[in-house]
Amino acid sequence: MPLVNSFGSKGRRVLSALLICAVIFELAYCQKDTQEQRTTPGRRPKTSKPKLGKSTNKGPRTVIAKPKIKATQAVPVLTQVLNRGKFKKVGDSISVQTGDTLVLRCRGKPVQWSVPKYLEEDDDGRLKIVQHERYGVLTFVNTTGADTGEYTCYPMYCEDTDCRKEYDKAVRVFVFFPDPQELFVPTSDYYEAIQLRTNWPTLLPCQVTSPEAKVTLHREFPPVEVAVDGTEISFNVKRGFTIHRPRPHHAGALFCVASLGNLRQSSTKYMLIYVNYPMAPPAPVIQASSSSVTVGENLRVSCSVVGEQDVVVEFTWEYPGQQIGRPLYTQESISPIGGGAARQQSQSVLLVDEVRDVDQGAYACTAHNLQGAKSVSATVKVVPKVKAKKP
Ligand SMILES: *[C@@H]1O[C@H](CO)[C@@H](O)[C@H](O)[C@H]1NC(C)=O
Repeated sequence: MPLVNSFGSKGRRVLSALLICAVIFELAYCQKDTQEQRTTPGRRPKTSKPKLGKSTNKGPRTVIAKPKIKATQAVPVLTQVLNRGKFKKVGDSISVQTGDTLVLRCRGKPVQWSVPKYLEEDDDGRLKIVQHERYGVLTFVNTTGADTGEYTCYPMYCEDTDCRKEYDKAVRVFVFFPDPQELFVPTSDYYEAIQLRTNWPTLLPCQVTSPEAKVTLHREFPPVEVAVDGTEISFNVKRGFTIHRPRPHHAGALFCVASLGNLRQSSTKYMLIYVNYPMAPPAPVIQASSSSVTVGENLRVSCSVVGEQDVVVEFTWEYPGQQIGRPLYTQESISPIGGGAARQQSQSVLLVDEVRDVDQGAYACTAHNLQGAKSVSATVKVVPKVKAKKP
């Protein structure tokens, strides 16, 4: 039972240290010693402990953990290691023949790497990352067109054993693995549904494996090539097509076609679905028919939102009688607002018939749309019925 033993001897050590402390009445100083003993059991290298300075003063002292300031790293240099130890500084993108080995070297101690997402998810042993003293090396063997994507090196900022990525100093390289058989990076689905949101850029990620491929965008029905003017729709060989300001007419089934040499291939199909997307979360306004109601009267609390036309707003309510199961009901309606801009008012009205004492309190309405939710509340006081005075 080595575990029990080691705990036992450590306990004894701590105890004897405490006894000596008690004798020489320097408890404050000694407690620090016992703490040190407790935290030294071998695992952590002693050198990682912050040095407390060279003071030889033996008297009681206040120990302030001095944060160890370590200079952040410079932006690292990313190089591609070619055959026979030749190095090449990489630019924005590189091409590596499929089947070849990709070797990237990034100066920094330490560095961390990020690779295309699917590689992070399923590691099949082709990717190896080694950290040397002054640089990290990523080695990737038996590459295929599917490995096309962005490879990033992040310098790490460390304080003792606590490290974090320095995102602003990341160096990225987009690596193409031109595949003579596959012009598109394969995807797992035959088609992909994509929401087109009003005024939000939409990406059709038809990623090619070769930067030389010529890529066009097509509509399935009617079968036409979609004009790519660089403003409304643009193409980036590292990302695909972007529709910058989606409109209802962009909806439908689209796909990309890549051609290179004699090869011409179609991408996955993208089913673009147009969604009326609000610019902001709703801003509800709540109003009770009266802030003070007499027992037995009816109460109406309305909650309304003015927003873009065809943008769905949903309402939820919280009210005092909820816990005891008061059966209240709501009426919802939508009405257009005149005057130029296409706007509408959505409203939910909470109706309380024959108010009771339990209905007193706060009525809260939460309005939800695709951008978020906002709550507002109103307080209602219930007053007893005024009894007719006896003469
Ligand atoms: C790479 O491919 C070779 C030849 O097909 C194979 O023998 C080797 O195991 C592969 N290496 C890895 C790490 O998959």
